[in-house]
Amino acid sequence: MEYIDLRSDTVTKPTPEMREAMAEAEVGDDVYRDDPTVNKLEELAAETLGKEAAIFVPSGTMGNLIALLVHCQRGDEVIVGNRSHIYLNEAGGMSALGGIQACPVQNQSDGTLALDDILASIRTEDVHHPITRLVCLENTQNICGGVPLTSEYTRQIGELARRNRLSLHIDGARIFNAAVAQNVSVKELVEPADSVMFCLSKGLVAPIGSMLVGTSKFIARARHIRKMLGGGMRQVGVVAAAGIISLEKMTKRLSDDHARAKEMADGLRQVEGLVVDAGSPHTNMVYLNLSERLPLDAHQITGKMRDFGVLVDPENARRFRLVTHYWIDDAAVEKTISAFQRALN
Ligand SMILES: Cc1ncc(COP(=O)(O)O)c(C=O)c1O
Repeated sequence: MEYIDLRSDTVTKPTPEMREAMAEAEVGDDVYRDDPTVNKLEELAAETLGKEAAIFVPSGTMGNLIALLVHCQRGDEVIVGNRSHIYLNEAGGMSALGGIQACPVQNQSDGTLALDDILASIRTEDVHHPITRLVCLENTQNICGGVPLTSEYTRQIGELARRNRLSLHIDGARIFNAAVAQNVSVKELVEPADSVMFCLSKGLVAPIGSMLVGTSKFIARARHIRKMLGGGMRQVGVVAAAGIISLEKMTKRLSDDHARAKEMADGLRQVEGLVVDAGSPHTNMVYLNLSERLPLDAHQITGKMRDFGVLVDPENARRFRLVTHYWIDDAAVEKTISAFQRALN
């Protein structure tokens, strides 16, 4: 059975055009910087985000980890959202591999970290204290509903960081969704950041890979650390070729995913037993709860949905996140709404 897969935008398989580009990619040994396709992708990523340089990395998790390892020394502290991917879902890499301590600050419901909370978390100079080195933002903020952070907010955090001699890193796994949703350029959104990680393998549909961007000096150090972590790849132009299509074409179509997420949310609001979050979706993620009266739990519904050909991933026993992407068309949206109707009856 061909499933409608709403578990994440990470499930996207490459398009036929990507597969063709991958088959025909010119390659070389990228550890020697000899792969022309990777070099082109890195130049394109840096230019698109308005930064000096970029590096291709195997995953978003590795991109974020490398950024933290470049910004921080062992024993330093990083201010992160308490609902951020870096804090919750990256296997504690910063502490295990970098000796870096997380200082979690509450994510507000709009995905932001309150400026006062950040200020209160910056350590004073004291022999007892770790040194606060970095602030991390996540845009879009996944767990807060796939909500985009504004360029104005990011500018304020950038200023706060500079005033306090901190650096700013953005986990921009879905930064292009954030830009499209707000009709601003991605350059403007990340302008205040010292480094940005973004993923090619989510809404941008490439099979593998993320980019880390920053100053030339930062990226030179990142290249060293990527090698240390075993992330130096060889003829990886076969993969980068898909990433070039991600940047040139897939960034231009994300509004389709957002429109379909909205259609899905509107349809699901009519299904008795489902309570779609107010304001959802903000981008390509629909978050919803099961009403208290419903006797079924999310795991039971997940099983029924699978039988109807729709894959969904429960967040917990009463909550779902549904993610639209390139392979979710209008028919899939309709089928999902009717599958939920049947599953709840
Ligand atoms: C916000 C965010 N940051 C980082 C990542 C990590 O990306 P990867 O799965 O490529 O390691 C993810 C993955 O889902 C994510 O949602």
